[in-house]
Amino acid sequence: MSIFVILGLLVCIEAQGSSDVTTVFVKKGDDLILNVGADVPEDFLNVDWNFNKTVIVVRFEPGEKRLVFLGFTGRLEFPVKKFSVKLKNLQEADSGVYAARVVTLLEEQPLAEYKVTVQGPVSPVELTVDSVDSVFSRGSDSCNLTVTCSTQHSHISSTFRCVSRTCSQEGGERPELTTSGASLHVYLMYGAIICNHSNQVNWTKDFKMTEHLCPQYAGPSAGTSVYLVKMVVFSVGLIIMVFAVITVHLMEKFRKHK
Ligand SMILES: *[C@@H]1O[C@H](CO)[C@@H](O)[C@H](O)[C@H]1NC(C)=O
Ligand SMILES: *[C@@H]1O[C@H](CO)[C@@H](O)[C@H](O)[C@H]1NC(C)=O
Ligand SMILES: *[C@@H]1O[C@H](CO)[C@@H](O)[C@H](O)[C@H]1NC(C)=O
Ligand SMILES: *[C@@H]1O[C@H](CO)[C@@H](O)[C@H](O)[C@H]1NC(C)=O
Repeated sequence: MSIFVILGLLVCIEAQGSSDVTTVFVKKGDDLILNVGADVPEDFLNVDWNFNKTVIVVRFEPGEKRLVFLGFTGRLEFPVKKFSVKLKNLQEADSGVYAARVVTLLEEQPLAEYKVTVQGPVSPVELTVDSVDSVFSRGSDSCNLTVTCSTQHSHISSTFRCVSRTCSQEGGERPELTTSGASLHVYLMYGAIICNHSNQVNWTKDFKMTEHLCPQYAGPSAGTSVYLVKMVVFSVGLIIMVFAVITVHLMEKFRKHK
């Protein structure tokens, strides 16, 4: 019985002191400021920031004393805010959990926890057209496009079907994760086929306009200009004919007067 009460109390203390986990994504080379969210008791013995539960990064002691641990010397700055730490020039290997705890005579309490993921920029992508099958005749207009989006180490293909200039993606959008944890994604937007290579901190894209890929959509302007030329030729012809008629008429009148 008493064991359960003691256990219950412990759980309460843990729960009361527990801090929310903040998830952050940092671009490789950037800095990150870790803040202590909770209040620190006046009579604390030390406040520690640790990494992955095993490595101590820095220890604050009463009287503005602090110890920076090996492996972090030269990599930290201390903003004005008490017990805050700025980690400089983060690299992929710095990904992990950073947690702050306060130790007093009576207990130990969590103060803050950050789950940090450091990501590099994503590599460029290239969107290539594998095939274009189109039919364009009276009553039938369709254009099937197959494209491939490639990065250095991975690629995905996708098929689009266009009918009367309205395209849709066969099978819908199916983003794929690459080995580096980034995502490769092909989709339609504003009449363009877009390939997007993205992670949480960076993205690159390549795109092609569908109207430049399907031959029958290649020239709204070409279509209009043929029409325009026909109209101009027809109008000029008409004007010349009218002039001819008038001239003949006038000459006839002139001759009668004589
Ligand atoms: C820290 O922990 C994360 C998982 O939480 C792991 O991916 C990472 O490799 C660890 N880093 C080190 C240096 O131990
Ligand atoms: C495009 O694909 C659809 C469905 O697979 C097919 O019915 C249609 O004939 C294709 N059009 C062309 C021009 O190949
Ligand atoms: C690419 O994907 C990222 C992440 O999802 C997004 O923020 C960005 O707007 C996308 N770019 C384009 C051109 O759609
Ligand atoms: C992605 O990272 C590269 C290289 O650091 C940078 O030039 C580019 O502007 C970044 N793109 C975006 C959308 O953040």
